[in-house]
Amino acid sequence: MKVSIIMGSTSDYEVMSGAEQMLKQFGVEYETRVISAHRTPDLMFEYSKSLKDRGFGVVIAGAGGAAHLAGVAAGLTTLPVIAVPMATKNLGGLDSLLSMVQMPTGIPVATVAIGGAKNAAILAVEILALGDKALSDRLDDYRREQADKIRNTTV
Ligand code: RP5
Repeated sequence: MKVSIIMGSTSDYEVMSGAEQMLKQFGVEYETRVISAHRTPDLMFEYSKSLKDRGFGVVIAGAGGAAHLAGVAAGLTTLPVIAVPMATKNLGGLDSLLSMVQMPTGIPVATVAIGGAKNAAILAVEILALGDKALSDRLDDYRREQADKIRNTTV
C-alpha cells in the first residue's frame, strides 16, 4: 500500500520532503500533493475520498498555523492520518501543534513533533508493516542500525 503525503502550501515542502526521503529509504511508494483545506476545499474532499480506492494505506498531513488539514482529511477517510505540525513565525508552531493534536473524540489524528516529518514517515511504515513481513524486517534493521550507532560511539 502507498502513503499519501499532503501539505497545505509549497512552503511546507522543505520539511515534508523529509517524509519522502524516509519512505524512499524503506522502499515505500508515496504520492505528494499540495492541497489546502481552506484554499481548495473541493479538491480536499475529492482527493481524500479517492484515497482508499487508489491503494493508499496511510495519510501524512503537514500544515501550519490554524492547521486543520489533518483533521479534515481524517473526517473524510477512515485511513489513519498522521499530522506534522509546521513551525510558524509568530507562535513557533504551537498553534499548528495544538490545532492538530486536540482532535475531538471520534475522529483521531496521530500527531508527531513540530517538524517531525521523518517520524511521521516511520510511523506510516510501521502501520503498513503490520501486513507486510518484508517491511517489518526493514524496520527491525533500521532499529538495529540506530542501536549500533550508539554502541559504536565513543566520546
Ligand atoms: C498553511 O498555512 C500551510 O500549511 C502553511 O504552513 C501555512 C502558510 O502557508 P503559505 O502562506 O506559506 O502558503 O495553510
